[in-house]
Amino acid sequence: MAKSKKKAPRTILGVDIGGSGIKGAPVDTKKGVLVEDRHRIPTPQPATPKAVAETMRLVMEAHGWKGALGCTVPGRVVRGVVETAANIDDAWIGTDAGKLFKKTCGVPVAVLNDADAAGIAEMRFGAGKRAKGTVLLLTLGTGIGSALFTDGHLVPNTEFGHIKFDKRIAEHVAADSIRSKEHLSWERWAKKRVRPVLAMYEFLLSPDLIIIGGGVSKPERWERFGHLLDTKAKVVPAALGNEAGIVGAALAAREMLKG
Ligand code: BGC
Repeated sequence: MAKSKKKAPRTILGVDIGGSGIKGAPVDTKKGVLVEDRHRIPTPQPATPKAVAETMRLVMEAHGWKGALGCTVPGRVVRGVVETAANIDDAWIGTDAGKLFKKTCGVPVAVLNDADAAGIAEMRFGAGKRAKGTVLLLTLGTGIGSALFTDGHLVPNTEFGHIKFDKRIAEHVAADSIRSKEHLSWERWAKKRVRPVLAMYEFLLSPDLIIIGGGVSKPERWERFGHLLDTKAKVVPAALGNEAGIVGAALAAREMLKG
């Protein structure tokens, strides 16, 4: 028997939890655009689950939001439970974020990995629109986030930033934060760090398309290193910039509401 689909609202609040800011906006999920300006509140320090949940409630309030919402976390998220915390407070490990956010915000909350959310948004509205085959989205920021799609279907929580590379993990070699921390030129970072890490991902996954997201996808940054990448697959910058997480979170919440 066909599964009956519930009617989900078209506009849904998406919230992106980052290391420095918690940003949210209502999203038109049919067009993939924010319908109001983003509201940003600095991430509380320490960024414990409770403090972050409270900040999310304030973002909701700022938008006068009363409905369900979607929210991203920079860690592996399985059925609402956060399992890893590489660049966030360790207190997140084992936290049922879905339950906690629902209790704090009083509405159902879909929780997913930040790179998965960005990937979902790019595949629907951005650089991966209509892309077939294997698509790998990588966010190069504080860490490396990854989202893998085969014919448009997401394989969640891939966490490729944590694959061992040259005795370190990939994100400790090629994240954008490493470029700044080690004072690498764009050229050196692209050639000696990003290229070999991308070659490893290509060896493992044979993607047809690689999308590079995060702050480095901004045109003025991409210009400095995009042409230095030598992947077999086509490599392009993400198109939705720092709105991708918010849009993807809202799309995930819509799916949750449809049941
Ligand atoms: C985390 C990922 C996250 C990525 C980008 C990594 O350290 O393990 O879950 O997607 O950073 O924020």
